[in-house]
Amino acid sequence: MSGELLYLDPHDVMLAADEVDAVDAVREALALHALGKAEIASEAYLGWSPGSGGAARSISMPGLLAGEPPAIGVKIINANTANPASGLPRASGLIVIFDPDTARPVCVMAASHISALRTAAVSVLASQTLITPGAATAAITGAGPLAREHCLLIAERIPQIAEIGVFDTIPGRAGDLCQELAGRLPPGRARLKVAASARSAIERCDLLITCTTTRQAYVERGWLKQGAVAVNVSLDDLCADVLMSADRLYVDDWGLIADDEHRLLGHLARAGRVLPPGTPDASPGTRAVTGTLGQLILGQCQGRQSDAELCVVNPFGLAIEDVNVAHRIYQAALRRQIGGSLPFLSRPQMRPRPTRRWNHGHDRRTAPAAQGRAAGGLLSGGPAAAGRPVRR
Ligand SMILES: NC(=O)c1ccc[n+]([C@@H]2O[C@H](COP(=O)([O-])OP(=O)(O)OC[C@H]3O[C@@H](n4cnc5c(N)ncnc54)[C@H](O)[C@@H]3O)[C@@H](O)[C@H]2O)c1
Repeated sequence: MSGELLYLDPHDVMLAADEVDAVDAVREALALHALGKAEIASEAYLGWSPGSGGAARSISMPGLLAGEPPAIGVKIINANTANPASGLPRASGLIVIFDPDTARPVCVMAASHISALRTAAVSVLASQTLITPGAATAAITGAGPLAREHCLLIAERIPQIAEIGVFDTIPGRAGDLCQELAGRLPPGRARLKVAASARSAIERCDLLITCTTTRQAYVERGWLKQGAVAVNVSLDDLCADVLMSADRLYVDDWGLIADDEHRLLGHLARAGRVLPPGTPDASPGTRAVTGTLGQLILGQCQGRQSDAELCVVNPFGLAIEDVNVAHRIYQAALRRQIGGSLPFLSRPQMRPRPTRRWNHGHDRRTAPAAQGRAAGGLLSGGPAAAGRPVRR
């Protein structure tokens, strides 16, 4: 494929993803992150209000993993809150994989499935590590694509979960999801059940995964069972007292949380109430993050200490997770000859290169990449970039 750009449409991605272990890919990404062998350059967030309605945004998320082989690329993930009302998925996007030597893009692929898959893989990995031996019931709030991917991966990878209660505020949506998945879950694994309310599902569950679009916290501390694990995928569902009083609190990247101005844990961090991993609990009214997910899976921070503890995971979502899953999908597609080749990169240069006329002074579009190079970079063995990710 040298010199060619491979294109994988959503169907190609699903086909190639069949032979990729996404849980293993995110395990590797999170472990390399904890070992300082990952780089997450500044993210760009662009939001706008379309005349046709809804709130639209585009996030560009570059990431590099200095693994064997290295995986480098960018995810562009867009969304409009009004899309589902017109029958379109809320989120869509692209992932571009780069050649580590030439920096040339080598593969462009549809991002939605990978984004949902890696997010579910992070939740499953954290849950496998944190749930109690007796955990048997899960609850998922929200019944969109993220919920679908979580149901499938929990049923496949956490055999002890016998039932998943699904709740959505839009009537019929949870039922539609349960019906769609009924024949697709492995036999003898988790059974799906529509829940009458968020509270009724959460009060029974040993494992809660939030997959909603709410900005209004509704999960109260008193709803959660002793020993439960709550994975706060949609980031704003858990009330502050859940985050403050959980026995264990894990994040994927503390810098993302600390810089975040929009989500609850970011607010608590900026207010000095939630402190970085490793900080000894200080004054009353504050708490420390127990560790990152990478530290947890490497045994570098405390895991669950008793079956009675409430463990909360706040996964902000890292570009390196997308890039590693996407890189494995790219390799699988090459092996199985899936996808189409886009010819323009392989054509010989017919004309002299046009002069760059638009670059007057500092080009903000290239600033993060330039910072990464200036910092040495992980692949050359130099110091890692110190640039701090900025998100949402
Ligand atoms: N943390 C991460 O890494 C990560 C990655 C990808 C997506 N996400 C987030 O996951 C969420 C779900 O994504 P999606 O693509 O499935 O979204 P979606 O819009 O397709 O589906 C969300 C569903 O949640 C329902 N909902 C909204 N408020 C609810 C509430 N209070 N209780 C129950 N249901 C409610 C909606 O009716 C909708 O059916 C989004 O917030 C997205 O930003 C997080």
